[in-house]
Amino acid sequence: MNARMFPVPARHQGKVYVITGGASGIGRACAHRFAQEGAQVMVADIDAAGQGVADEIGGSFFRADMSDPVQVCALCAATLDTYGRIDIWHNNAFSAVFKPIQNQTLAEFDAITGVGIRGYWMGAKVAVEHMLQRGGKGVIVNTASVQSFVGEKGFSAYQATKGAVLAMTRSLAVDHAPDIRAVAIAPGLIKTPAVEGIPDDVMEEVITGIPAKRGADPEEVAALAAFVGSEEADYMSGTAVILDGAYLAIG
Ligand SMILES: NC(=O)c1ccc[n+]([C@@H]2O[C@H](COP(=O)([O-])OP(=O)(O)OC[C@H]3O[C@@H](n4cnc5c(N)ncnc54)[C@H](O)[C@@H]3O)[C@@H](O)[C@H]2O)c1
Repeated sequence: MNARMFPVPARHQGKVYVITGGASGIGRACAHRFAQEGAQVMVADIDAAGQGVADEIGGSFFRADMSDPVQVCALCAATLDTYGRIDIWHNNAFSAVFKPIQNQTLAEFDAITGVGIRGYWMGAKVAVEHMLQRGGKGVIVNTASVQSFVGEKGFSAYQATKGAVLAMTRSLAVDHAPDIRAVAIAPGLIKTPAVEGIPDDVMEEVITGIPAKRGADPEEVAALAAFVGSEEADYMSGTAVILDGAYLAIG
């Protein structure tokens, strides 16, 4: 199954798209998808590998640590310098050490939430400020997770970020409708470098618990992001769209 086998519409011609965590996995696939649909893409990541993604798609790269508000502001400024506007800002970067709370340090919690809550909030803030100033429409896409909805063992700090992302998405949508939309996308198991380290036997058990009996390709998430970020989804705001092979449907 590869979502690239499907025809790709040209919904993002003339749009400028910022993707954080764009060097890898879902972010990289989103950078490719939005570029294929005609967007000018700013790839942001703490990892300089984002330059390679930008080169592949004819976009730009800005190295930014999303937990540092100064660097988030610099990312916004660099995008405006390069492209003159921002239409879709996609908060997607994450970094996490997965441990049960008794083994997790406060420093790890601060680092995880620094990217996953403060970084998302700061990204939304600079994007909304720009969109309001421009007096135009815009979209904030936030990558959440199935773990925004259910508990899984050993993920307390990470799940705190993903719950916050949903609440923040709702709030942004209510504050800025109808001109600025905010939508969360909530993936289940996606085959990215983030899950590569999971031992085979654990992965087998995870897949057994997914009715679709597979993880998805990052391109499938990118296809969803490109839809929710487009004008076709103009009535969709303040909600989360789940892409999980019926994982949550089990209850
Ligand atoms: N892979 C999955 O199964 C899955 C499931 C649900 C949700 N998600 C979510 O999808 C998003 C992308 O995950 P992925 O699987 O593609 O992971 P990934 O590890 O492939 O990519 C994450 C990217 O974020 C970047 N990053 C890390 N810290 C950063 C920082 N401080 N500033 C800027 N960039 C930083 C990394 O360098 C990397 O390029 C995350 O928000 C994750 O929570 C993933």
